[in-house]
Amino acid sequence: MSTDSIILGVRDLSKSFGGVTAISGWCLDLARGEILGMIGPNGAGKTTAFNLLTGVLAPSSGRIVLHGRDLTGSGPEAFARGGISRTFQNIRLFQDLSVWENVAVGLHMHEGPGWIATVIGLPSARRRERTIREKAEALLETVGLAGMGSRRAGDLPYGLQRKVEIARALATGPSVLLLDEPAAGMNPSETAHLTETLRAIARAARSHAGEPVTMVVVEHDMRLVMSLCTRVQVLDRGVLLADGAPAEIQRDERVIAAYLGSGRKKDRADAVA
Ligand SMILES: Nc1ncnc2c1ncn2[C@@H]1O[C@H](COP(=O)(O)OP(=O)(O)O)[C@@H](O)[C@H]1O
Ligand SMILES: [Mg+2]
Repeated sequence: MSTDSIILGVRDLSKSFGGVTAISGWCLDLARGEILGMIGPNGAGKTTAFNLLTGVLAPSSGRIVLHGRDLTGSGPEAFARGGISRTFQNIRLFQDLSVWENVAVGLHMHEGPGWIATVIGLPSARRRERTIREKAEALLETVGLAGMGSRRAGDLPYGLQRKVEIARALATGPSVLLLDEPAAGMNPSETAHLTETLRAIARAARSHAGEPVTMVVVEHDMRLVMSLCTRVQVLDRGVLLADGAPAEIQRDERVIAAYLGSGRKKDRADAVA
């Protein structure tokens, strides 16, 4: 793998909260266009990993390099400018705004005309508003929400709200998209549809810089992970237990013992078999 194909480098990253080590010695070289799955039991450190990769949390030690720039210690704005965007395990939409307005929030980051132009209704502002609306509609179509733009976000079923979050995250034109349990609360047919949507995004979506969208997907649904991802990392109690192709991960004895094979997670093990 050539180094310039590495879009995101994570070196020996650790994060402790008081006495709790949430993640320890995590390493990752993420190549352009990869779809990385991250799996592991609850409390394994997956969401903490996303909080570190978006600058929401500063690591206790280690480094994060995005597009060759060391962003360790930078805040969320620097990570967003660097092209990282995410969705949240606990949905964070503006419940009282419409679906398309939620997506427009992401678009305004790049295309906003500024509030003065909007308030006084300059033609340029109106034109840009129209462009933003068209782009929002296109993104909604991408995630399978065509025609739902005027609905109140909070009125949509949970599974559809997750798709609005994905559209909003895509609206910033990211080169790296982090999805935290995107299938949570979805039934099997919604999950299958989501899997196709994510595959289509990986194939066709482009960042503001014209690159493909590289993805990291934290998910418990093994069918989604194993069919979508090109590579899987397994975290267990903050430590990287395995890193490899889906077929290797499914055969890995330590992974089966720690996660896939336990009786408590029987449904997940069945989904893999
Ligand atoms: N902000 C925080 N403050 C204190 N402890 C935290 C915080 N965030 C996560 N943790 C702890 O870090 C560990 C990993 O949590 P998390 O990253 O949410 O795991 P996962 O997403 O894999 O379920 C857990 O023990 C959790 O309680
Ligand atoms: Mg989590």
